[in-house]
Amino acid sequence: VPRLSKEQSIVLTGFMGAGKTTIGSLVAEKLNRAFIDIDEVIEKEYGLSINEIFAEHGENKFREIEKQTIRSFCEQPMTVISLGGGAFTQPEVREICLANCMVVYVDISWERWKERLDLLIDTRPVLREKDLKEVEELFLQRKSAYQENHWTLTVDGKTAEEAADCLIDSLE
Ligand code: S3P
Repeated sequence: VPRLSKEQSIVLTGFMGAGKTTIGSLVAEKLNRAFIDIDEVIEKEYGLSINEIFAEHGENKFREIEKQTIRSFCEQPMTVISLGGGAFTQPEVREICLANCMVVYVDISWERWKERLDLLIDTRPVLREKDLKEVEELFLQRKSAYQENHWTLTVDGKTAEEAADCLIDSLE
């Protein structure tokens, strides 16, 4: 597992609603770095919500936009970047991030995550029309893409503040 370095940009990956944006913005604030949330950048640039982009342009188009956006921000030094939970399903995105940044997997257990589902369902088109069993399958399937070769930040039992401090304490 690679070490976290103080100079590189930090990329947070992990399942929807794991806390990437909350933890990432705290880390950025504490390290005095710019914080970039890729979904937010895309929503601003297109003037549409993620739901609307999926509905009007389709998921494939969204993935293309997502990849280009990640590419442009990953090349900037000393930032903290929060990815969408599906970004790492694209091998090219994984390559871009690993080549340029420190990748941190924000790891939440299925048991804890399940409790957040109701809060997420309206704004996450990927969760629509799936029953709990199908969402769990997606959760497990995505885990392997997130975990491989990355530093893992376990969030169960931690507040966002504690998780952010834990990440910062691990920087070398
Ligand atoms: C997605 C996760 C979302 C967003 C889009 C697709 C996914 O980001 O990019 O709804 O496929 O897991 P969050 O991880 O911030 O929810």
